[in-house]
Amino acid sequence: VIDAGVARVVVGAVDPDPRVAGAGIERMRDAGIEVITGVEEAAVRRNDPAYFHHRSTGRPLVTLKIATTLDGQSAAADGTSQWITGPDARRDAHRLRSENDAVLVGNGTVLADDPRLDVRLDGYTGPQPRPVIVAGRRAISPTAALFDRAPLVYTPRPVPEPYDGADQTVVMPGNDGVDLVGVVKHLGSEGVLSVLVEGGPKIAGAALRAGIVDQIVLYFGAKLAGGIGLPAIAGTFDTISDTRDVSITQVTRLGPDLRIDAVFERAL
Ligand SMILES: NC(=O)c1ccc[n+]([C@@H]2O[C@H](COP(=O)([O-])OP(=O)(O)OC[C@H]3O[C@@H](n4cnc5c(N)ncnc54)[C@H](OP(=O)(O)O)[C@@H]3O)[C@@H](O)[C@H]2O)c1
Repeated sequence: VIDAGVARVVVGAVDPDPRVAGAGIERMRDAGIEVITGVEEAAVRRNDPAYFHHRSTGRPLVTLKIATTLDGQSAAADGTSQWITGPDARRDAHRLRSENDAVLVGNGTVLADDPRLDVRLDGYTGPQPRPVIVAGRRAISPTAALFDRAPLVYTPRPVPEPYDGADQTVVMPGNDGVDLVGVVKHLGSEGVLSVLVEGGPKIAGAALRAGIVDQIVLYFGAKLAGGIGLPAIAGTFDTISDTRDVSITQVTRLGPDLRIDAVFERAL
């Protein structure tokens, strides 16, 4: 830009990456170029939220995705949950996966659903998110479909031998299973910019309590469970002051179903 003799440069947002962090802007200013920063900064950041989040915190942007019935049940008491939402919402959920670098589930979901966590959309040829399994006391089934996709596995304590088919087995002990703050820091150090937490209720609850969730995508299937099966989020709701305010950023109808996007106030 300096060599080309540009007179004036307009910058939306200064790259927070410590390796650059305005150094190029200083060089241009030193060369006599007029540089204006912060023009439409919020819009620029919204365009690439995961990048800005990762570069300024070292952690990926974490989206918690939950699909429930209208009355908030994420699975039946017998563990069945397919399908709470219809084809349009499920296609949308695959698009959501495609927007994330990694997709994370607990071993409870691996044992119950044996998911692949890949993007399955007609004509999709883009990158596939890295699968991440958070394991606990129970062993992950060696025949789990995810082992075909070289998952990153976190365990609360050392396992006798690394899982066959896993990309890495990382020991990340926490107070109650795996330390989820440690997981996001490790994923950030691996260059993962965004993670979609896809459940189930125990990981959803633990992720919220660990304070790692930046935004939420709720799919409400046009169904009423009519009773208690598995909640969307495990744990107890003791008193009304335990609630946290969110801003609903988008409401979308998907066929008969509904998608609600929300962010915690601090993430705005
Ligand atoms: N509707 C939806 O959006 C949705 C999405 C996914 C799953 N599901 C349903 O949810 C059910 C499975 O529920 P789930 O709660 O067992 O699944 P999960 O949250 O995916 O897995 C929970 C397991 O992860 C392990 N874990 C390790 N560290 C943990 C930590 N810090 N916090 C919490 N868990 C930790 C524990 O394994 P150990 O018990 O071995 O210690 C725990 O039982 C299935 O019925 C599935 O169909 C629904």
